[in-house]
Amino acid sequence: MESSVIRKRFLVFFEKRGHAVVPSASLVPTDDPSVLFTTAGMQPLVPFLMGEPHPKGKRIVNVQKCVRTQDIEEVGDKTHDTFFEMLGNWSLGDYFKEDAITWSYEFLISKDEGLGLDPKRLYITCFEGDEDAPRDIESFEIWKKVGIPENRIYFFGKKENWWSPGDNGPCGPDSEMFYDVTGTLGDIEKDGFIEADNKQQIVEIWNDVFMEYEKKDGKVIGKLKQQNVDTGAGLERLAMVMQDTDNVFDTDLFQPLMKTISEHSRASDVRAERIVADHIRTATFIIADGVTPSNTDRGYILRRLIRRAVRYADVLGIEAGTLPVLARTVIGQYKDVYGNFEQQEGVIVREIEDEEQKFRKTLDRGMKEFKKIAQNNISGADAFILFSTYGFPLELTVELALEKGISVDEEGFQAEMKKHQEQSRAGGEQKFKGGLADTSEMSVKYHTATHLLHQALRDVLGNHVQQKGSNITPERLRFDFSFDRKLSDEERKQVEDAVNERIEDSLSVSYEDVPLEEAKNRGAIGLFEEQYGDTVRVYKIGDPSTGSGQVYSLELCGGPHVKNTSELGHFTIKKEEAVAAGTRRIKAVLK
Ligand code: ALA
Repeated sequence: MESSVIRKRFLVFFEKRGHAVVPSASLVPTDDPSVLFTTAGMQPLVPFLMGEPHPKGKRIVNVQKCVRTQDIEEVGDKTHDTFFEMLGNWSLGDYFKEDAITWSYEFLISKDEGLGLDPKRLYITCFEGDEDAPRDIESFEIWKKVGIPENRIYFFGKKENWWSPGDNGPCGPDSEMFYDVTGTLGDIEKDGFIEADNKQQIVEIWNDVFMEYEKKDGKVIGKLKQQNVDTGAGLERLAMVMQDTDNVFDTDLFQPLMKTISEHSRASDVRAERIVADHIRTATFIIADGVTPSNTDRGYILRRLIRRAVRYADVLGIEAGTLPVLARTVIGQYKDVYGNFEQQEGVIVREIEDEEQKFRKTLDRGMKEFKKIAQNNISGADAFILFSTYGFPLELTVELALEKGISVDEEGFQAEMKKHQEQSRAGGEQKFKGGLADTSEMSVKYHTATHLLHQALRDVLGNHVQQKGSNITPERLRFDFSFDRKLSDEERKQVEDAVNERIEDSLSVSYEDVPLEEAKNRGAIGLFEEQYGDTVRVYKIGDPSTGSGQVYSLELCGGPHVKNTSELGHFTIKKEEAVAAGTRRIKAVLK
């Protein structure tokens, strides 16, 4: 049975039983600051589960787009994915356990209206009871009544059989349905059930939550004013069961993408293929709902997904720049299901393309740096350098380290990160990244000269020139930039002259803290991808409003700088050389 048929059958089944079909909400929650992404079908329904009347009535059904990234390192096995579609039906203070369980069972086994699954391959779990709620004998009895043998119903505690969206909100005991994907297990004891689960011989296909309790600050505080039902069945897993595959990546939901990936691969590695497929699919859905890669919150999750996909694409020997092709496959596959795909196609492809390019700019240098660092276990400070200078998300460093059999001080990394964020919030000269560690008079001068040089290079060689690195001592400046050949003598002289002219112009140097977007709109240059927070500091050299010439340079930077370019003296380029393919290095002095 194709996944499109499963979706349709589910909606029709519950529509026939009085449920209003509602469309999937966005992956970006509108009113719920507690989560970055919609992680379950119930999330957009929280107010209604708490008692507010829903405009469509008390019975709702839908297929909800969900993103869950907490198990990201599990992706690559048979069943984990970071994006999935959840089929769900809800009772908002209407029917309860009897109807919920009966309908779940009917849908699973009915050949005409449902999935026609083999009831002999089903296993059920129920809540065993604790101080917050009694043992769920009621559900147990209903399951028996519909036809599940007693020895295939197991009781578990809160960890397995209690569901809540977080520390606050509606929650309750749940009853989960599992299916034997091997078709050979038959009657098994509880231990055998647990073992089969660990071996992925059985797969959880549906969860019925009986939401009649409320949680506050992690504690169950009592009953809600109404009894709700919240169910969730993962489409990918149902498809796997219906299509007789032992993993979600062999279902029709992933096959076109897996095929495109293997066509572009030079090496074969099942795990890497699955990771690329999963991450690009999720990234496509996230961008379609309006998120773009960044260093914070949702944007950072997206960035990590794309960067991890780049890295595993490399493992597969997939040519650079192929990720957008993969995204197009995802779009082609889902455009009839999710209306915003076609319309967002340009944005999706562009964002993935840009992010891949951005990461590739630092990836090679980062890998070199990693090799240097990875002689021994990696300190938090080094992992942070890989993150802040080369854009390596922590998990990438951890994975690379793992492959080499060394460890990463993840706590140390978090401490560095925190320190950095505190500095970002603290204000003052160290407020933004790029602040000089050494604030001696000469270093400050070289820092300002670096801005002039950066702009001069763009003026002489073209605006595609970008900063790749910078290093300043009281003796000299060193500046790395993207450019693919040696500068001619003429160009080198033009750059030198341009800097000296700006020094002679006695331009004022000032800064402004502005929203990141505004900085971009004003055309500021600099390492945008390394910025945190919403506000950035932009340094301006030359200010018409103070009668100090035209704006010559506008660059993201933490400072500090000299007050006026006339303080710098004479600028001389001492050396111009290659440091890597596509990257040149200039060493220069002020006298
Ligand atoms: N909200 C429940 C879950 O996500 C159905 O499992």
